[in-house]
Amino acid sequence: MIGHLQREIERYSNTHAQCFFEESISSAEATATVAAEAATEKTPMEICKGINGLEKVILRDIRGSSVEIYLYGAQVTSWKNEHREELLFVSSKAIFKPPKPIRGGIPICFPQFSNHGSLEAHGFARNRFWSIDPSPPPFPTNSSNKTFVDLILKPTEEDMKIWPHSFEFRVRVTLGPAGDLMLTSRIRNTNTDGKPFSFTFAYHTYFAVSDISEVRVEGLETLDYLDNLQNKQRFTEQGDAITFESEVDKIYLSTPTKIAILDHEKKRTFVIRKDGLPDAVVWNPWDKKAKAMADFGDDEYKHMLCVEAAAVEKPITLKPGEEWRGRQELSAVPSSYCSGQLDPQRVLQGS
Ligand code: BG6
Repeated sequence: MIGHLQREIERYSNTHAQCFFEESISSAEATATVAAEAATEKTPMEICKGINGLEKVILRDIRGSSVEIYLYGAQVTSWKNEHREELLFVSSKAIFKPPKPIRGGIPICFPQFSNHGSLEAHGFARNRFWSIDPSPPPFPTNSSNKTFVDLILKPTEEDMKIWPHSFEFRVRVTLGPAGDLMLTSRIRNTNTDGKPFSFTFAYHTYFAVSDISEVRVEGLETLDYLDNLQNKQRFTEQGDAITFESEVDKIYLSTPTKIAILDHEKKRTFVIRKDGLPDAVVWNPWDKKAKAMADFGDDEYKHMLCVEAAAVEKPITLKPGEEWRGRQELSAVPSSYCSGQLDPQRVLQGS
């Protein structure tokens, strides 16, 4: 029996241990965890081939929730709750073929949000191949979450021709014990020429909703926004929660740290908590733009809503050696959500 377990541990170690990262636990504990996982055949992290052979990482929680992340774009393409219900929208027409970005999930927009600059729309991080980072610098906070993966992107010489800056971009994707999904980005200026650089950023999250006309967003009312559909002019949002009956493409400015998406039909509320990301983009292409997009179904706009934790209005500037951190935490709460619960003071949990 012991020999069998030992063989299982070795087999597991050979195939998975290089990508099983535990923070703040001793190697003895890690070995015990690996052994337990191997014995039950439940791996908290797995690397496998996804669509068109693109590599993806799957994180799993024993209660049934899971997250999938493609190394292409470091893009989360699936987030399921403990009932294995999909919480993110990915278009049935999404093209998983570089250099086309994947339509859905959580694309990362860097170093430029949308067309707010001279680079390609939403920058290039979403259509580059990231690597698994085996030894990321530790986070100052000690976290109880053990199911995560660290990915890293560094620019190639070709990248530096279009954006002449050296950087290290690390993203940690964590699946919390309650099925919450956390993304923490750390971007460091590694320029050796003494030059600072500036960038804009967004977690371009596509939430899956039952019917867009049954959805409302709370936390953005009365705020100023830039309207992408009206030459980025500035307006002030009126009235109560935001509802949807036509195309929307707005950048809300200096938003609270907590925003909620209420889906009446599904009896589900998504809660977005964010840190280091003052703005929030709300986007739904509606019918006309949906038809114009090759990688998006004509009627799919009814079943998605992008609410994007972002830093757009005031670009982030980093001097050489400086690091920026931007974090979003997503949870899906069953049944209708009381707006009084929106508490911007709630402190974000550790990584
Ligand atoms: C949103 C922008 O974030 O992304 C929209 O505000 C844009 O203007 C949308 O149309 C989708 O962008 P893309 O490049 O993925 O088609």
